[in-house]
Amino acid sequence: MQRVIPPDFTIQTARCLLRRPIAADLPHVFAATRFAGFYDGMPGEPAATMDELEGALPESWREWDEGITYGMTIADLTTNTLLGRVGIRKTSRVDEWNLGFWTHPEHQGQGYMTEAVSAILTFGFEELGAIKIVASYALWNKSSRRVLEKVGMKFIAYIPHAFKKQEYWVEANKMSMTRREWLLLGSGDR
Ligand SMILES: CC(C)(COP(=O)(O)OP(=O)(O)OC[C@H]1O[C@@H](n2cnc3c(N)ncnc32)[C@H](O)[C@@H]1OP(=O)(O)O)[C@@H](O)C(=O)NCCC(=O)NCCS
Repeated sequence: MQRVIPPDFTIQTARCLLRRPIAADLPHVFAATRFAGFYDGMPGEPAATMDELEGALPESWREWDEGITYGMTIADLTTNTLLGRVGIRKTSRVDEWNLGFWTHPEHQGQGYMTEAVSAILTFGFEELGAIKIVASYALWNKSSRRVLEKVGMKFIAYIPHAFKKQEYWVEANKMSMTRREWLLLGSGDR
């Protein structure tokens, strides 16, 4: 059963605080998306301007309030530095949710996303009542694949036309974890 998640809800991990985005995050989000190739593994395009990014913030809050998507900033627990973003979105299937994520290029390769995704799986299964959580990675995106494997997600499907980048289709693999698999991993004991 999905419970109501208040705006001030946070998730604490060993090194991070996951929380609803605020306007002060946006310059760091914008800076992350300026790194060459940063958005190649994600559908869509980054905001072209800070104004565009600011304009999207109320929409992300609305989606949170309506229980559609919980997009969270990942901040360093002690310094509050923005490390990245992780989001969990309801799919069209009953009790199925989909994950998306990125780490600021200056903070990649330090295990932050593995820590955040692991926490979001717990959030999905415990607070949102998810029965299945899925995520997809572009076939070439080895670090994204690695994050999903490290948290215990399993391959379920190859998607030849996952999303378009410029005029080219990007192929992807879809990964999943069921609530039952998550409980068997012992994650539910935490
Ligand atoms: C994918 C992404 C979120 C990973 O974030 P991160 O904070 O660096 O992730 P972690 O540090 O927790 O784990 C990364 C793993 O990938 C591995 N990795 C990194 N580059 C790799 C490569 N080229 N080949 C194989 N493995 C690689 C790291 O070694 C690490 O695994 P390890 O712990 O076994 O050594 C980050 O690279 C990113 O934001 N990329 C751009 C946006 C994106 O593609 N998002 C995902 C869309 S599905």
